[in-house]
Amino acid sequence: MSVRGRFITFEGIDGAGKSSHLDFACELVRARGLEAVKTFEPGGTPFGQKLREVVLHQPASALAEALAMFAARSAHVEALIAPALQAGRWVICDRFSDSTYAYQCGGRLLPREIVTTLEELVHPGLQPDATFLFDIDPATAATRQRAREREPDEFERRQLDFHMRVRNAYLERRRAHPGRIHLIDASGSIEEVRSRFSRAFAEAFA
Ligand code: TYD
Repeated sequence: MSVRGRFITFEGIDGAGKSSHLDFACELVRARGLEAVKTFEPGGTPFGQKLREVVLHQPASALAEALAMFAARSAHVEALIAPALQAGRWVICDRFSDSTYAYQCGGRLLPREIVTTLEELVHPGLQPDATFLFDIDPATAATRQRAREREPDEFERRQLDFHMRVRNAYLERRRAHPGRIHLIDASGSIEEVRSRFSRAFAEAFA
């Protein structure tokens, strides 16, 4: 009988640099002689990929965005995540439901209870075994994304406010789930962040 695999998620604001560490996480899992599957949200299945294209390019209400994220998530859990875990594989997923709390609730002020209800409907009994939250100051993340020195314009300023709310919502999630969510300081070089992640991973799966 195979043992259930572990479900690992990566979270953080845009520009936190989390995606560059996903392959490394797969290597850490494989180094333990286990199978690793890398996936992402929104997306992860052909159905989810179509929804990703819509939701990332068509403006919609916070509720419509959350519903689309959970429609994609439902297909993703059913078709990929649950069967892989059942088969003993470790699933490493770039973003999951914490992103909806952070972006749609924190960023766009959707009531949290709506996301709690959707979670119970779409993935009852399934939560990540460990979540690595790559945390960075939104101003530093924006500078990383656009290496230029001048005052942000009105639109960029709004984006900065938005990302500050997203970051605060993530930090609030971490306070609510300190055993599951591991905070990684994402400032500094890729190598520095990688070694912080490596230590956090070793602690999470000691
Ligand atoms: P991501 O693929 O991480 O961004 P990129 O590959 O462009 O760096 O995520 C795409 C965007 O989707 C990101 O801005 C966060 C947003 N998002 C939500 O708003 N809610 C969600 O539930 C998820 C999963 C993502």
